[in-house]
Amino acid sequence: MSRLRVAVVGTGFIAGRHLAALAGFDDVEVVAVADVVPTRAGEVAARYGARSHPDGTALLETEELDAVWLCVPPFAHGPLEAAALARGLPFFVEKPLGPDLATAEAIAVDVEAAGLTTAVGYHWRHVDLVHRAQELLRDRSVHLVTGAWLDRTPGAPWWSRRAASGGQVVEQTTHLFDLARLLAGEVDTVTAVERPAPEGDVPAAATTLLTFASGAVGTISSARVLGRRHHVGLQLVTEGLAVEVTERGLSDHELRVADADGEETSGSEEDPIAVEDREFLDVLLGEAPGVRVPYAEGLRSHALACAADRAAREGRPARLGD
Ligand SMILES: NC(=O)c1ccc[n+]([C@@H]2O[C@H](COP(=O)([O-])OP(=O)(O)OC[C@H]3O[C@@H](n4cnc5c(N)ncnc54)[C@H](O)[C@@H]3O)[C@@H](O)[C@H]2O)c1
Repeated sequence: MSRLRVAVVGTGFIAGRHLAALAGFDDVEVVAVADVVPTRAGEVAARYGARSHPDGTALLETEELDAVWLCVPPFAHGPLEAAALARGLPFFVEKPLGPDLATAEAIAVDVEAAGLTTAVGYHWRHVDLVHRAQELLRDRSVHLVTGAWLDRTPGAPWWSRRAASGGQVVEQTTHLFDLARLLAGEVDTVTAVERPAPEGDVPAAATTLLTFASGAVGTISSARVLGRRHHVGLQLVTEGLAVEVTERGLSDHELRVADADGEETSGSEEDPIAVEDREFLDVLLGEAPGVRVPYAEGLRSHALACAADRAAREGRPARLGD
């Protein structure tokens, strides 16, 4: 059987999850990896029998590939996508699409012009419980959305610099903004406030007030000052029914559904990273119709998170699409 030849750029935490998934597919061969920390790239390359590069652009210019996974921090986006585009190479890219909106908007124009197959790592969309939430909400009008990402500060050195990561709202809470769009529709306007942290320029906490095109209202809050993850989830209130999706870890989700008769809770330990990777591969093989989150769709969620971040920084409301 001929195997799809793939590479992974950035060999940190999330790359490890994608590599584990990719290595588990017998129609995939991981041929190369790259990281600006060469020893890290070398160790990962040895583990997967792949070639190691100290530079993602060089990898993209020299390797013969069917697809690439871009698993780099937010600040590193731009040149890698440009190199993939130059070769017409389909790419999977982790969220967020950049630390700001301008980088991603420029890439989106080129992706659209090239008609390239892309996917963005908004993995909540690949959780089976989220599909069930979609089914439950399909014919209902959502009145209220409340979300919270209450967590510790991640340890990666780039995370605590707002210019490098985009900050918590753009880097982490973006998953909740994406889920809110999926389950309650597009957002018209956001108003936001933030509380500075004693250390670093990523706020200690922030809250966004949202109005949806449907008329629904909502809030999504973020805090990074806890010792461990406390609560990460989104709740939707409709006439007589509340639906909540929470994430305790990348592969540990819960759905809580409550109505007048009582409450039902279900859990999932499915690996949504493997599911999103498989979907992308199947589209490349012509065995699936399309990816759930192509670049243009990921950009809409990124734009919402960036608008929430901007509204807090500037202290004035932001309209989506402005
Ligand atoms: N889908 C999710 O839930 C999820 C979870 C974790 C991380 N992520 C995202 O994945 C991205 C990476 O996060 P992480 O936790 O793996 O970070 P990390 O710091 O663990 O790994 C990033 C790696 O990229 C390397 N790198 C930096 N610039 C590079 C460049 N120009 N070329 C090649 N390598 C480069 C770094 O040396 C590092 O090894 C972030 O955007 C993050 O938001 C997504």
